[in-house]
Amino acid sequence: MARLFATKPLSLLLEEAHEEGEHTLKRSLGPVNLITLGIGAVIGAGIFVLTGQAAARHAGPAIALSFILAGITCAFAGLCYAEFASIIPIAGSAYTYGYATLGEFVAWIIGWDLCLEYAFGAATVASGWSGYFVSLLEQLHIYLSPGVARFTTTAGTVLYNLNGKWMTKAAISMVLPLGTDLSKLPHVTGVFNLVAFLIILIVTAILVIGIQESANFNTLIVIVKLTCVFIFLILGINYLIHHPGLGKMNWHPFIPPKDEAGNFGISGIAAGAASVFFAYIGFDAVSTAAQEAKNPQRDMPIGILGSLVICTILYIMVSLTLTGLVSYKALDVGDPVAVGIDVTGVPWGSLLVKVGAVFGLATVMLVMLLGQSRVFFSMSRDGLLPKWASAIHPKFRTPWISNMLVGSIVAFLPALLPIDRLSELVNMGTLLAFSIVSAGVWILRRRHPDLHRPFKTPLVPLVPILGIISAFYLMFSLPLLTWIVVGIWLVVGLLIYFTYSTRHSKVQALPAHETTGR
Ligand code: ALA
Repeated sequence: MARLFATKPLSLLLEEAHEEGEHTLKRSLGPVNLITLGIGAVIGAGIFVLTGQAAARHAGPAIALSFILAGITCAFAGLCYAEFASIIPIAGSAYTYGYATLGEFVAWIIGWDLCLEYAFGAATVASGWSGYFVSLLEQLHIYLSPGVARFTTTAGTVLYNLNGKWMTKAAISMVLPLGTDLSKLPHVTGVFNLVAFLIILIVTAILVIGIQESANFNTLIVIVKLTCVFIFLILGINYLIHHPGLGKMNWHPFIPPKDEAGNFGISGIAAGAASVFFAYIGFDAVSTAAQEAKNPQRDMPIGILGSLVICTILYIMVSLTLTGLVSYKALDVGDPVAVGIDVTGVPWGSLLVKVGAVFGLATVMLVMLLGQSRVFFSMSRDGLLPKWASAIHPKFRTPWISNMLVGSIVAFLPALLPIDRLSELVNMGTLLAFSIVSAGVWILRRRHPDLHRPFKTPLVPLVPILGIISAFYLMFSLPLLTWIVVGIWLVVGLLIYFTYSTRHSKVQALPAHETTGR
């Protein structure tokens, strides 16, 4: 039983971090690349979709406070991630940290669980992407026939047609008078979301070609995405300054009183935070690129915390501007930011937002799938997954088999499953990883107090404890079904662990005294 808790020696981890050569990943990313990688992963469906939904359903204009609350939860975990990433600058993220501190069994659970964050995260965003893509086509007056529309959403979802545009029931109810008989409108039932399926395959192909190309592509698109966010802020804030009555009306009351269903009020701010948590997911993906960083000790904390701080500020500003421009009640739509910019009367505004969203969500998928293949890469190098998962392409120097296998499986998820189920699984997987990383920092401080830590989490153990408590608080707010599915997922993982990994583990093959972790 003790071997299950064998820890990977830090000396071995650091040795791996310094390895160079044909069979390792290229070290090509600097601090700016890492921050853009983080922003590329973080700003996505959260800012473009969830802000509006969470404001309309949970918090009203106080959604800005929800963003602060969720941001604080992420900051605890972010500080812990930064300390680990500076000590153990190798690919693998929370998985690697867990292996060094809590032992192989826990590391396996984290690695397996991270699939929920990265793979299902990419799938969730692909689902949102397909919605924005179709809406962009419609804005460009490219209307889809019913036969094609069937392949733009998951099986069973009904789409209604109004003036050539396909909309879900929730979206069409916002524009039609109350009591309209929807069955009289042309409608189709979704079969398979081919759009989401194909975008995952395209992103996978980019990843196979190479990290440097991917990082450059990512930087370019992050610039497009940020430009779009800044233009929204400039136009929106300018409009609010010139129409002070509008903001006054929409922001009042800032915290709407609790309704009969228990939404809004102070507890609504917390519910909003649990919902917009998804918007922050991704900053930790920076840590999975540690092995490709030129100077990981210095640059990993900069990448993780820098992207988190920038995104938090942007989220607060966007949510305040949005709820000032439009009544929160009208924001329960798939493209709330486009609705907000329409108020300013700038004709190209909504087109710009949709273009920004289409490119912006693509980078989120890119970083998520990159993170996923890097986790598999590390697990395979440790012998916990078969060798092919860490096979590096001789020319592109990327873990191409792992990329292709993951990409082709992930592509089916948004094609078949609804976005809300997917995002709940992502939140659960991420929160579990956050709590284990927080615990790991604390344990490592006790076991190896003298270890060189280029970045130190402040106030240990208080910050890790708050990180664990806040992560569990949000996990308990997720539905029972999510717990059950995650439970099944972990059981499948354990079957693989006990039938394959324990027999091939390289750490278990080391002499016991090297792997006790004490
Ligand atoms: N944070 C990422 C998003 O908002 C996952 O899309």
